[in-house]
Amino acid sequence: MDQITFYTGLSPTEFFTILTIMVFVYRTVSAMFVSPEDYNKPPVVSLKTNIRFDDPKPTPEPVQLGQITEPELRPYNGSDPSKPILMAIKGQIYDVSTARNFYGPGSPYAMFTGKECSRALALLSFKPEDINGNLEDLDEPELAVLEDWEYKFMEKYPKVGQLVPEKRIQQNEHKEEIEDNLNLDEGKD
Ligand code: HEM
Ligand SMILES: *[C@@H]1O[C@H](CO)[C@@H](O)[C@H](O)[C@H]1NC(C)=O
Repeated sequence: MDQITFYTGLSPTEFFTILTIMVFVYRTVSAMFVSPEDYNKPPVVSLKTNIRFDDPKPTPEPVQLGQITEPELRPYNGSDPSKPILMAIKGQIYDVSTARNFYGPGSPYAMFTGKECSRALALLSFKPEDINGNLEDLDEPELAVLEDWEYKFMEKYPKVGQLVPEKRIQQNEHKEEIEDNLNLDEGKD
């Protein structure tokens, strides 16, 4: 005790009070940090709200498909987990795999996946007969609604290809030949 006073100039009571405070501060501050071993572990409580669709795998990078037909788009409806989830608006194909809570199997907008859904979005319709690209009889306000959807999708999702009419393209090898064929076909209509 005499030595404490000798070395620190503090009374024993003061010395132990300061010691206690220092231990307390040390413990409080260390509790704010994570030990290096724990740092790379996932958090115990997931912050994701869509726990039902919680998937430990990250969404794969979008793959460009180029020009495909509607039947070729069909399988990209979320039923095959190895394939991205795609949907088309005005012929442009978007990869919506990041929004499994909207488009994954059993989710509210799954009926649009693997399909051209311009008409349904324009009419705000879930009817299977409206899930297609037919815009012929739509009026201006309906087309404006569709355009709003298109802008939303362009901002939110990567574009991975274009829909082309069936059977017109065999392989994407001879681009000029294909364009000639398209022109010929259009001439016939
Ligand atoms: C009963 C009325 C409806 C309600 C309450 C509703 C509600 C919602 C909500 C809360 C969202 C999430 C919005 C966001 O977080 O960005 C959403 C998204 C969406 N809704 Fe609806 N909705 C309704 C009707 C419709 C209809 C009629 C359609 C089209 C036919 C539609 C198509 C969509 C689509 C495609 C998305 C996803 C957009 C995206 O990928 O970000 N909804 N809806
Ligand atoms: C998704 O596509 C596959 C292959 O085209 C088909 O067998 C399946 O029935 C479709 N699922 C839904 C929910 O439409």
